[in-house]
Amino acid sequence: MAEFEHYWLPFTPNRSFKKEPLVLSRAEGLYFWNEAGERLLDACSGLFCCALGHGRREILDAITAQYRELDFGPSFRYAHRGGFELASALAEITPGDLDRFFFVNSGSEAVDTALKIALLYHRVRGEGQRQRFVSRERSYHGVNFGGVSLSGMPRNREDFGPGLPGVVHMRHTHLEANRFQPGCGAHGSELALDLQRLVDTYGGDSIAACVVEPIAGSTGALVPPVGYLERLREICDRHGILLVFDEVITGFGRTGKAFAAQSFGVLPDMMTVAKALTNGAVPMGGVAVRNGIYDEITNAAADDAIEFFHGYTYSAHPLACAAGLATQRIYREEGIFERAAELAPYFQERVFGLRDLPVIEDIRGYGLLAGIDLAPGDRPGARGTAALRRLFAGGLVVRVTADTVILAPALVAEREHVDQICDTLREALQGF
Ligand SMILES: Cc1ncc(COP(=O)(O)O)c(C=O)c1O
Repeated sequence: MAEFEHYWLPFTPNRSFKKEPLVLSRAEGLYFWNEAGERLLDACSGLFCCALGHGRREILDAITAQYRELDFGPSFRYAHRGGFELASALAEITPGDLDRFFFVNSGSEAVDTALKIALLYHRVRGEGQRQRFVSRERSYHGVNFGGVSLSGMPRNREDFGPGLPGVVHMRHTHLEANRFQPGCGAHGSELALDLQRLVDTYGGDSIAACVVEPIAGSTGALVPPVGYLERLREICDRHGILLVFDEVITGFGRTGKAFAAQSFGVLPDMMTVAKALTNGAVPMGGVAVRNGIYDEITNAAADDAIEFFHGYTYSAHPLACAAGLATQRIYREEGIFERAAELAPYFQERVFGLRDLPVIEDIRGYGLLAGIDLAPGDRPGARGTAALRRLFAGGLVVRVTADTVILAPALVAEREHVDQICDTLREALQGF
């Protein structure tokens, strides 16, 4: 169809999509509408972004007012109040002393920025030899070259050359022994010792940072085994390695607390965020950095010298800051994270209630996030794509990675939305 020719869609089979396009035309609250005027429940907060549902009036008003006041300003060597206000608001909810924020425009940029901060931090402390990064199989850290180098999802990296040198991977934590286990799996904390093995192999003082998603989201909600993140923290501490949590999906209430770091009680040295930071209304990401890291870097430079040769034209874009501030205010004033924590047990119970369906091979979940593995069809991914279309026809928008359906309803969802999600899944997957 000519009207669909020119747009090259991301992470989409373009040729088949254009034969049967799934086009969304409107959204409000928990729902989308397609072009035929049919209503679809958004079971994944857009792409894990719209934690407050769609079309919040307060966010619209904030963006509009900001555009009237100051639409854009140069982000290098100048600033506007919004950047400072948003950073201060975030410092209120981040754990420990993760109180300094570098703003970017996406999760991918946040990850690449965190890698650069790690390298610079060690360099200014006279440990410039720390240039390796440790990541993990099945991880997703965005699509820029730093994140792709960390990536543990083969299809995301295999077409794009070797990437950054010196990135090594720990094993993933998806274990047969934890199949259908709600929350953190009882088995597998010893997998954190992979980090120790890499230390033993390459030398702890060659490693700049260990980067993990506390819950690996895009690969299908791999929840960390009990004690696993704690063990990573201990090993990092022992060897001077920075621990970075990529909280692009888990940040802002998805796990029932502001950040997964708080849900799991482990304090990282940096945290990457994006998505629900602005409720998805304006693209924005950020890196939360512990005070000591910021201080080391900024104090190391000569007076009047730029400390970090990095930044984006749109860092702390005024409209993004306005959207972020309005979003954070709603999270705070409406107790959204507590609300998510309250709904989570019901959500998990209903999702795990699908386990009797023969096509389902595993379910994992934590907070308002869940992954459902379907038995693969003729080739990997075929069943997942078919499920996505069936669910769309049944009135549900989900995220599918390979043959895994990922659910992440808005944090403002009600029980009836959870029921609708699970009933639609049951209907679509029965006899599949
Ligand atoms: C953990 C994680 N990191 C990074 C990213 C990349 O974010 P973006 O698509 O905004 O670049 C994602 C996106 O889903 C993510 O889940």
